[in-house]
Amino acid sequence: MALLPQKKKRKDPGLPGASHSWAGDGPLTLAKFSEVGIFLVERKMGSSRRSFLSQLARKKGFRVEERMSESVTHVVSENNSGDEVLELLDKQSGICRAALVDITWFTESMGAGKPLEVENRHRLQVKTAADGGPIGIPISQYACQRRTTLDNKNSLFTEALKVLAENAQLCENEGRYLAFTRASSILKSLPYSVTKIDDLQGIPSLGEHCKKVIQDILEDGICREVEELIQNERYQTLKRFTSIFGVGVKTADKWYREGLRTLHELRASKILLTKEQGAGLLYYEDLIVPVTRTEADSIRKIVEGAVHRFLPAAVVKLTGGFRRGKEYGHDVDFLITHQEEGKEQGLLYQVINWMAAQGMILYDDITDSKDQKWKNKEPEIFDSFAKCFLIFKLQKDVVNVLRPNTAGDHDPLAKEIGHGGRAETCERATYAAVKVKDWKAVRVDLVTAPFGQYAYALLGWTGSQLFERDLRRYAKHFKHMSLSSHSLFDNEQKKFLSAATEEEIFAHLGLDYIPPEERNA
Ligand code: CTP
Ligand code: MN
Ligand code: MN
Repeated sequence: MALLPQKKKRKDPGLPGASHSWAGDGPLTLAKFSEVGIFLVERKMGSSRRSFLSQLARKKGFRVEERMSESVTHVVSENNSGDEVLELLDKQSGICRAALVDITWFTESMGAGKPLEVENRHRLQVKTAADGGPIGIPISQYACQRRTTLDNKNSLFTEALKVLAENAQLCENEGRYLAFTRASSILKSLPYSVTKIDDLQGIPSLGEHCKKVIQDILEDGICREVEELIQNERYQTLKRFTSIFGVGVKTADKWYREGLRTLHELRASKILLTKEQGAGLLYYEDLIVPVTRTEADSIRKIVEGAVHRFLPAAVVKLTGGFRRGKEYGHDVDFLITHQEEGKEQGLLYQVINWMAAQGMILYDDITDSKDQKWKNKEPEIFDSFAKCFLIFKLQKDVVNVLRPNTAGDHDPLAKEIGHGGRAETCERATYAAVKVKDWKAVRVDLVTAPFGQYAYALLGWTGSQLFERDLRRYAKHFKHMSLSSHSLFDNEQKKFLSAATEEEIFAHLGLDYIPPEERNA
């Protein structure tokens, strides 16, 4: 199996002020009490005292870690509250499974010459969030360590933060986009509704700006900044243009600067469109209507049928949002593989050609796994599987066609064939059945993966996007591993770790298994 070259390993920044040089008396393995790993928080302690205490502890046979890691069992701090320490740790290193203890535990243990049991009086107090809140259980800043179902108890806030995230994206400010997306995602994972600002105690990834938005909504029911954005002409226009298949922020912004505002103006303009954008604009009214699970199932049956014509034993798996349990999606994603590695090669061409011959394809863009356009790209973000982005022509069933209110007023194709509005009488409904467009354009992604990479591909194509991003970030920072949709590479052992199932990948990463329905980060 062809695997991708690894990215050069970047140094972990560690906690503020943490020195990476080994200042101790010997290697880690000499520690007498190796089961105990101490991390001293430098904040308020100062670097010289920290290094003095580190040396002292090492002399006594304790293992002292220079930076936060999974092997730390005791986080020791002086003059910081539990919340302050958690916030520091969350900013830098994700979830903290270690005991948060005061310096008294450390000095007493040094005095005793051995690690003492942690008693309640040693523990740092973490303020409990009210009413069934996280009660001091640290919430990870990594989406892959949270369980996020579709039951969002904080949609009022997450919808507002989503607007801010979208706007940041439309301004090409990746940092702000991520900050708002992370904040929104963490609120989605809370098992309770935030009803007062105190409920946010101890929750990572919430910057001042996000807290202000939440506070505004708690006080006034709305956030003025968000409301203004929604009315903003550039925001509205760029959102409209980027919702066209094939149009990214740069193109949308260019059109905006050229004075275009509406789809009507765009259609009337002489602007040159790519083949993809042309299709996106042509089928726009269909493509902005969310795909239902029923439609996804119909397409699955058709795709499965097509694939099995050529490879009866191939596996066709529904991935993306529908695999996570969503009822609606912007497209339908499929991953295809075959137990006999190599059999999947060339399959996409056969499938697409056959479907095209059946009149099922409105647009297709096949990327071969050997295609140069994917090379030199970040392997952790752009995989190089053979894939096809297509616009599928889904026949609506007769029952749907007969239903009076069909595509609605905006449907130019419906208008073209002389029916745009609501059919009020039975007679007209029957008339509509004859006249109305009886199909819907639906975006479909088909990906084929060699069997040996199937588990990685499945994990990578199930999403959500933030869940994937945090899996890779977690792998890199905590395990010194590089995760992609193809493989997991251990940068320390310098080897690829194979996996036949998603469960095995989570196990390689030392993470609890999170099922697809809980990956809606
Ligand atoms: N993906 C990817 N490479 C791409 C496109 C998508 O790896 N070129 C992955 C994304 O990271 C995501 C999954 O495929 O995890 C599904 O992507 P997408 O269809 O865009 O999102 P969904 O989560 O399915 O959301 P929706 O229901 O709106 O389609
Ligand atoms: Mn999808
Ligand atoms: Mn997709």
